[in-house]
Amino acid sequence: MLNDDSSILVTGGAGFIGSHFVLDWFTSMGTPLVNLDKLTYAGNLRNLEAVAGRPGYTFVRGDIRDRDLVGRLLVEHKPRAIVHLAAESHVDRSLVGPGEFLDTNVHGTFVMLEAARGYWQGLDEADRARFRFLHVSTDEVFGSLKPGDAPFEETFAFRPNSPYAASKAASDLIVRAWHKSYGLPTIVTNCSNNYGPLQFPEKLLPLVLDKAIHGEPLPIYGDGLQVRDWLYVGDHATALRVALERGQPGQTYNIGGWNEQTNLDTVTMLCALLDEFLPESPHRPHAKLMKSVTDRPGHDRRYAINATKAERELGWRPAETFATGLRKTVRWYLDNQAWVEEVTSGAYRAWMETNYAGR
Ligand code: NAD
Ligand code: DAU
Repeated sequence: MLNDDSSILVTGGAGFIGSHFVLDWFTSMGTPLVNLDKLTYAGNLRNLEAVAGRPGYTFVRGDIRDRDLVGRLLVEHKPRAIVHLAAESHVDRSLVGPGEFLDTNVHGTFVMLEAARGYWQGLDEADRARFRFLHVSTDEVFGSLKPGDAPFEETFAFRPNSPYAASKAASDLIVRAWHKSYGLPTIVTNCSNNYGPLQFPEKLLPLVLDKAIHGEPLPIYGDGLQVRDWLYVGDHATALRVALERGQPGQTYNIGGWNEQTNLDTVTMLCALLDEFLPESPHRPHAKLMKSVTDRPGHDRRYAINATKAERELGWRPAETFATGLRKTVRWYLDNQAWVEEVTSGAYRAWMETNYAGR
């Protein structure tokens, strides 16, 4: 019989958002959690050292595309829910090598759904009603907004523009079909840009922080007036937890920070915080390191989320403001330079060469 004390199966729990979700889970819930992660370049067990020895925590290194493995884990751990985060997540990488994005994000989600369906169909009626498949997705499925456009609502059409966004949109639609066709109790969340501790330094904020600390040019794609709706990662972790508990099967929920910023403003704020925290730095003012470089192809101009439904139906709103969240984030990166050095190894340097050398 599944109940509140049954385990959950998380995929991608060693990544940026996944680690925050797992850490938050053991702080707020404490019930058993199995973390299935392949440990690609983006997965890092260091993020999870605080829970590694905890009773109820199980880590399994493996691929979401391994149907037998996922099936075995479901039979063995009898979870009440799957929280599916594992994905290739970086837009620039998807432009260079889209195949891995389709394999992981589309085929991987299909394998997870099929394994979940097999398990779910074998449950008794009460347990079938209790089970949830939470699919963690992105606002990028909706495409790009113009300056005066209303923020994305759950009902908006999908208009993905990058291979990453297209792969996530495809996975969202497959999840929808598994609900409509088979009745699998799925929930989808579409979230805006996350920032915070433990983010791999290929994404804008940690990349700029790392470069600014070392006095290197800060690459601003194009005119830097692209708008992103930033959400502190801890708030996303909370949103996923409440979506799991209160979300209705078949529903999608937009999650966002009510916090639209241009990239230029975001980087300027980061630089001002570094100026404050590093008064002796020879690189002050850090903002002078900003440098416009060749734009990203197909670069989405603006994302903005209308998160009213999540507030109304899940009782969720972000707790962190951009000012408080950025301050925490900059402090964390300054205090955790060893973490940054560890992840910016050989493979990382090869990526930086691929993405930035020609710009
Ligand atoms: P991430 O790249 O930091 O982490 C991805 C994790 O998935 C890594 O631990 C990696 O090892 C694992 N993984 C990749 N392929 C796998 C496979 N085949 N099998 C098992 N594990 C695999 O990603 P993130 O930024 O934490 O994003 C997590 C999820 O949230 C993704 O689905 C992403 O699309 C979505 N999302 C991210 C953001 C954001 O701003 N980062 C915003 C909205 C939604
Ligand atoms: O909106 C949610 C999405 O946010 C997630 O689904 C993705 O997984 C996540 O990577 C993120 O996508 P973005 O492409 O918006 O994030 P990124 O950090 O790569 O870029 C943020 C903005 O900064 C974007 O407009 C591109 C710009 N940028 C990025 C980099 C890496 C730069 O100007 N310079 C850079 O070097």
